[in-house]
Amino acid sequence: MLAELFLDAARACRDSPLNRTLLVAAADDLVRGGVTARVMAGAECDRRGAVPGLRFAGAVHRLVLEGRAPGLAEHYPTVGGEPRLATLWQDALPVLHAHADELRALIGRSVVQTNEPGRSAPLFGGLQVAAHLAAEAAGRRTPFPVRLLEVGASGGLNLRPHRIAYRVGDEVYGDVGSPFTMDVRWTGRPGVDLSHNVRLARRAGCDRHPVDVSTEEGRLHLSSFVWPDQKLRWERLQAALELARLDPVPVSRANGPEWLADQLVRPERDVLTVVWHSVIWQYVSPADRAMGRAVLADAAARATATAPLALLVFESRRTPDPDRYDFQLLLKLWPGGESLRLGAGGGHGIPFTWDTQPWS
Ligand SMILES: C[S@@+](CC[C@H](N)C(=O)[O-])C[C@H]1O[C@@H](n2cnc3c(N)ncnc32)[C@H](O)[C@@H]1O
Repeated sequence: MLAELFLDAARACRDSPLNRTLLVAAADDLVRGGVTARVMAGAECDRRGAVPGLRFAGAVHRLVLEGRAPGLAEHYPTVGGEPRLATLWQDALPVLHAHADELRALIGRSVVQTNEPGRSAPLFGGLQVAAHLAAEAAGRRTPFPVRLLEVGASGGLNLRPHRIAYRVGDEVYGDVGSPFTMDVRWTGRPGVDLSHNVRLARRAGCDRHPVDVSTEEGRLHLSSFVWPDQKLRWERLQAALELARLDPVPVSRANGPEWLADQLVRPERDVLTVVWHSVIWQYVSPADRAMGRAVLADAAARATATAPLALLVFESRRTPDPDRYDFQLLLKLWPGGESLRLGAGGGHGIPFTWDTQPWS
């Protein structure tokens, strides 16, 4: 039932009192057949994985960002407001009534695309580990340069892991001169020398619904899915959008497994090919998961010490507490077939604990 999915989304927003309050009130309104039912008409049978609650909250946020909900905007820190949770819903109601049809159309065609630049931090560490291990296995003295292939890249904001400065206490890794610095809140370290930046030979990404961040529409779309009272995430996103303006990388419109099959058609020598995905698995159909695995197994069988292949993923796993997810960074490397769990962290990639273990 839709109201239950809204309450699920509200629980997931435990770091966003604003979204949580909005979603709990909207769930109650749904049960009573209020204006939220009109806004959500057509989405009644949405799958859990389509997270209708977050699409609702994102659509409302978008109206605020566009300056079309001035009364409600006073609650939204992303436009200079301050949340007053006790009056949030009463200020949201006139907006829902005034824009119900437009919101319904927007929610109907949108998919959740929280392209989160914080995930570049585990990606950066994971790439370093993969490039070192592959070099060791090939008897090379220097780490491999990387060909990075991202499935489900959204706006491609994680296709620049080498252009970010990662601050850990007093140390800075990556591109130390970058205009985009992240405090990554690491416990432990990846266990390889991070004093040199990772070298990216090529980058490419695909998404079923790519976001063109070179357009105002694309930037607005991604911004709307940031939880409005999460200042650090908002600042990270704006910094990553600016980096994308300086260093554009287009994202292809394609379904993951087919695109990957094309990219991996023949092994490339003297680079480590890394297939990367973060927080997409829950949105991928069982058929596409099976095909993705088959494409990768095929490419893995063709990998050699001088044309190695890695799978690096940052995905969630349910914990015994049904409201908590654990996001793990996993690495597989071929031709050797090593499988490692490199660590785990928050869903946005920050904070993160490095702790390498075998992964079976
Ligand atoms: C929650 S977003 C995560 C985006 C990005 N990976 C990140 O970590 O910031 C999930 C993305 O996966 C994409 N996606 C889902 N299924 C896909 C598929 N079969 N092929 C390509 N992209 C897919 C969606 O369109 C969406 O952009």
